[in-house]
Amino acid sequence: MTAKLTLALTKGRILKETLPLLARAGIEPAEDIGASRKLIFPTNRQDLQLVVLRGTDVPTYVRLGAADLGVVGKDVLLEHGAEGLYEPLDLGIARCRLMTAGPVGRAPLGARVRVATKFVNIARRHFARQGVNADVIKLYGAMELAPAMDLADLIVDIVDTGNTLRANGMQPLDEIAAISSRLVVNKAAMRSQHDAIDSIIDALGSAVGNGDDAPA
Ligand code: PRP
Repeated sequence: MTAKLTLALTKGRILKETLPLLARAGIEPAEDIGASRKLIFPTNRQDLQLVVLRGTDVPTYVRLGAADLGVVGKDVLLEHGAEGLYEPLDLGIARCRLMTAGPVGRAPLGARVRVATKFVNIARRHFARQGVNADVIKLYGAMELAPAMDLADLIVDIVDTGNTLRANGMQPLDEIAAISSRLVVNKAAMRSQHDAIDSIIDALGSAVGNGDDAPA
């Protein structure tokens, strides 16, 4: 019997953009993922199943071999590290930018800057590179609220349309990284199931090249 491969998907906005990409690669879940509370989905390929996870859990599943492949945002890989993972494909979906941002018309920054973010490692590295003394405050959401409540001077967050910043009287400042979703692969699985995994990488690679949202 063929060994079954598991592809871990990131739920939310990335999932919505991943499903059309999988379809173009000939991979169809056996039922509508968006309409189900299930977390494991067989596909039309007997050798492949899908699991749907929080993005921050995808590298853990793939690194430890509970999943063989994963789809995850580059922001998660930059923040939590990518040891134990191959990153063979930029899927070109869920594109956005990781940026610093601050209130429009804010006073000049002092010697120490308070930065609110859920990307604490990325923020620490960024401000260290700039030679700025930063006190990084970990938040789990609604970063845009922190400057308004005087919890922080700046934030580090994902910016897509910029609407969330504008709606909260903030503006983008420095771009830290361009973000998109990546295919990651467990290193041991890449060796032990090379042919099967290679065929999935090839199919997804062609789908990336043929999609509406293909990288320019
Ligand atoms: C992200 C980010 C911003 C928003 C930016 O949050 O944290 O709040 O999107 O998008 P915009 O520039 O188009 O307004 P998301 O909705 O992904 O939820 P999260 O807070 O759970 O990450």
